[in-house]
Amino acid sequence: MPKNLGLTPPMGWNSWNTFSWKIDENLIKGAADAMVETGLKDAGYEYVVIDDCWSLKERDKDGNIVPDPEKFPNGMKAVADYVHSKGLKFGIYSCSGTHTCANYPGSFEHEYQDAALFASWGVDFLKYDYCYKPKTVPGDLLYRRMAMALRNCGRDILFSACNWGADNVHDWIRNTGAQMFRSTGDIQDNWNSIKNLALSQLDKQSQGGTYCWNDIDMLVVGMSGHSENGWIAGKGFGCTYEEYKTHFSLWAIMNSPLMIGCDIRNMSEETKNILLNKDVIAINQDPEGRGVYEIDHWCNQSCKGLVKPLENGDYAICLVNFADGEHPAEISFNFWDMGLTYNSGFALEFYDCWEHKTVGTFRERFSAHIMPHSCRLYRVKLVKV
Ligand code: GLA
Repeated sequence: MPKNLGLTPPMGWNSWNTFSWKIDENLIKGAADAMVETGLKDAGYEYVVIDDCWSLKERDKDGNIVPDPEKFPNGMKAVADYVHSKGLKFGIYSCSGTHTCANYPGSFEHEYQDAALFASWGVDFLKYDYCYKPKTVPGDLLYRRMAMALRNCGRDILFSACNWGADNVHDWIRNTGAQMFRSTGDIQDNWNSIKNLALSQLDKQSQGGTYCWNDIDMLVVGMSGHSENGWIAGKGFGCTYEEYKTHFSLWAIMNSPLMIGCDIRNMSEETKNILLNKDVIAINQDPEGRGVYEIDHWCNQSCKGLVKPLENGDYAICLVNFADGEHPAEISFNFWDMGLTYNSGFALEFYDCWEHKTVGTFRERFSAHIMPHSCRLYRVKLVKV
């Protein structure tokens, strides 16, 4: 039985966003090396995950999935062993339907066989997609099947469901036994995609949490328009530094798993600055795993104020300006709406998680001017006045 998998949002790297079908043993080993050398491992990133396109198109005569010998000439166990030798965990991908989304064999009606095979290779994480699902079979049954197979395969394998928010997944996924679930369609490396995915999950924050996290999709931070996959790359411009910071802040405060999607072997200082931000990661990894609520503010509808209670009595607050344009918006709010009354004897001390400094102590309200596509992320502490 899995022990304590998914206690906090899983963190790691996944091959899909940048490399898609262009994957091989050297890439995965290089990614594992980079996880250690860049400090990502020390910051909490743990899983190295191979997404779609790792196998041959046909199972062998015994019905087993076969790693593509051109991409993985030493088989998958050798890759898993290498990843483990770096103190990291190894993830792989399959699908609840007959085929994966890129047309490789899916695990439909092979669930127990595949779970045993993955366990024998040393797999620690399985991303499980929803393409080519037979229409007559309910999705919740297919996730229950693989969950049961994984939970009894003799190895702790984190189950990462990926049905893109279809079929009211929020209502039933936790009860299947999955530790995380994709709630959205695929991310693209542009601001509109980031904005739409985040906004689509704001009203569903009470449905994810400890042991079963709402996965808003893998990060595009640091991709800067570079991907083998033209659909993800779009026009190839990527996002600005501010937009990637907003993306990371939102995923963090909304408790999404933090699965990096850029080429971590070649990260810019800006990208490292974002992905290694310990203050932001601490908000994501807070042991209580509470979702955010929205707070009233005096700004137009394009702004959002999000609040997440933290384990030690602090609160995380993210103020976001989703609007386009060139002018900052003033986002201000009353502490009353967070539950802090005027006569409480407390004020809030604001610590800026991107500037890494305390910005001041405020008694009744707070206000910040925020540029379009930008945010501020604070950790606030109650202090006696
Ligand atoms: C789906 C998933 C993606 C990726 C691809 C692989 O689109 O949502 O994250 O795994 O399949 O084909």
